[in-house]
Amino acid sequence: MPAPRRTLFVTTALPYANGPFHIGHIMEYIQADIWVRFQRMQGHEVHFVCADDAHGAPIMLKAEAEGVTPRELVARVAATRPKHLDGFHIGFDHWHSTDSPENVELSRDVYRRLRARGLVYGKPVEQFYDPVKAMFLPDRYIKGTCPNCGAKDQYGDACENCSSTYQPTDLIDPYSTLTGARPELRTSEHLFFRLSAPEVVAFLRRWTAEPSPGRALQPEVLNKVREWLGGDEVASKLTDWDISRDAPYFGIPIPDAPGKYFYVWLDAPIGYLASLKAHLAARRTDFAAFLQDPHVEQYHFIGKDIIYHHLLFWPAMLKFAGAPYKTPDNVFVHGFITFLNEKMSKSRGTGISPDVYLDLGMNPEWLRYYLAAKLNDRVEDLDFNPDDFVARVNSDLVGKYVNIASRAATFVARHFGGELSTRVPEAGRVADRAGSTSIAWGARDSIAEAYASREFGRAMREIMRIADRINERFDEAKPWELAKDPASRERLHDVCSDAINAFRALTYYLAPVLPATAGKVAKLLGLRLPLRWSDVEQLSDRIQPYEHLMTRIDPKQMDVLIAPPAPAGPATTAAAAAAPAAPDATISIDDFTKVELRIARIVAAEHVEGADKLLKLTLDVGEGRHRTVFAGIKSAYDPATLVGRLTPMVANLAPRKMKFGLSEGMVLAASGDGPGIFLLAPDAGAQPGMRVK
Ligand code: 2FM
Ligand code: ZN
Repeated sequence: MPAPRRTLFVTTALPYANGPFHIGHIMEYIQADIWVRFQRMQGHEVHFVCADDAHGAPIMLKAEAEGVTPRELVARVAATRPKHLDGFHIGFDHWHSTDSPENVELSRDVYRRLRARGLVYGKPVEQFYDPVKAMFLPDRYIKGTCPNCGAKDQYGDACENCSSTYQPTDLIDPYSTLTGARPELRTSEHLFFRLSAPEVVAFLRRWTAEPSPGRALQPEVLNKVREWLGGDEVASKLTDWDISRDAPYFGIPIPDAPGKYFYVWLDAPIGYLASLKAHLAARRTDFAAFLQDPHVEQYHFIGKDIIYHHLLFWPAMLKFAGAPYKTPDNVFVHGFITFLNEKMSKSRGTGISPDVYLDLGMNPEWLRYYLAAKLNDRVEDLDFNPDDFVARVNSDLVGKYVNIASRAATFVARHFGGELSTRVPEAGRVADRAGSTSIAWGARDSIAEAYASREFGRAMREIMRIADRINERFDEAKPWELAKDPASRERLHDVCSDAINAFRALTYYLAPVLPATAGKVAKLLGLRLPLRWSDVEQLSDRIQPYEHLMTRIDPKQMDVLIAPPAPAGPATTAAAAAAPAAPDATISIDDFTKVELRIARIVAAEHVEGADKLLKLTLDVGEGRHRTVFAGIKSAYDPATLVGRLTPMVANLAPRKMKFGLSEGMVLAASGDGPGIFLLAPDAGAQPGMRVK
């Protein structure tokens, strides 16, 4: 009996609009997209939306550093989205922005409702303020000396040297990373959401125990939230949540608090609803009525780093804002993607870039399959291992799945003009004939169950086990011998037709992961579109001329995909080693590698008032923030000609406080006895953040 039709509202976390997607975003979207495609194949209605998370101080500051408005920056980044989404077959129904009229309206509405219930209050907050920049500093823009171990240039919340944690105000000699100025403590009124109110805590304990009837959080997630929420006899650790920020800020102005904006994390999740609202409006569906429909289920896919926001703030906001808002039916949390068990790092050049992947023309379905094969319902990190990637794709997808069709189709085309045997359905019950189709059909429900519970790895393993059996049976039947014997013609027809119909069933099973291939097979075998799980147990009676469905991964592409940023080793760079020099004139390779040379992009260059020799450079070293470097190259360069250039820099030089501000590194230039200063430049292809070795 088919399951009753459901209506699902599904989101992935909204990416910050300050840069293009990285592979972690793509992994999350692929995970959600597979689930969504599966649900649609069950006949359910799915509304799958996302948006750019546009607000916040980092985006404002990055835009400023690049000399554009935050909106221009966000628009520029938004324009990069379709390449990746289309490129990896990620089928959101709508992509929106948190900087949109819908989000302004909804965020203010939620806020007003919370305030009306007495859950918002104001309180003075003492905070670091940059007097040069004239703004309150988010913690990440404050550095100083660790109060515990004395390490210099540590962030405001934790020391990378001794791992101790503290408040920014505990730092010795704090400085603003924006200007180098010493921050001052200033007080300002902030608005708080009463997360610690007894009714809020009581609600969260209930909701996290059972977010919707019969549904449970993942055990790891439940454990985590219990640490915060406490429970029987254990007090909650929740503290009220600071939801306002002072100007200057790129955000949504708070209606009744001039000069104050919603903290980005207030309006970001509301962006899920803003995107849904815009999507429904285009379909002439009423937003409030949709949310209030008891049959609508709401699911969010997120990473493990934002559990707090989605399992505490978000349901609490929705609950206490009241109808038509509804609390999520569940939140699905995944781990991070690692590369050879290391955190991926753009600046260290480890990991894979979705951009490079697509630019190389690599098949997006290879990655979709590999991720699916490794994904499960737990909050585990997923490791991308290049050799494993090649092996799985080549052996599973091409060697097992596609192989069935390509072998069987050849016989059917040559001997039967593309007609498939219609004896298969009855014969399917006869052990020695046509059994592969039955084997494939038999797994229908267990594969569906694995998909539904996000156990994609289990689903892929089961599918490949069936593919193995189909191939074995095909080999055992020795069709190449049957083809030589006219008396075996009927048997040859049955064997090949059975393999193709079994392949047909596998195509349905893989369709959530391989939508493009499934589309090709649909043409090949005349499958009814859209593909429905309920059509799995049907048979094709013809196969069109076979065209290649998928190629193997080319190792040359892999070499480029995973290439470390700077291939030059000591032999090519240490020319001085050729001639023996006095021991004290040489340095060891270890000495040399202490100098961290990296490629920087000059995003802005300007004259410095009162400085004869210096230009102020704003550099992108691929770290997600910009550095300021004062360089003595004024005599040789017009600042305007420098913008956009790449140049190597010393990235680990201790920051130096200069009269004009903090200099965070050094760019490299050649000069001799004669006039002229010549900035170095890498060959084409180098990217900001690459290490120079
Ligand atoms: O962590 C992040 O990347 C945030 N931009 C996620 C926001 S998810 C939602 F709340 F919008
Ligand atoms: Zn320390």
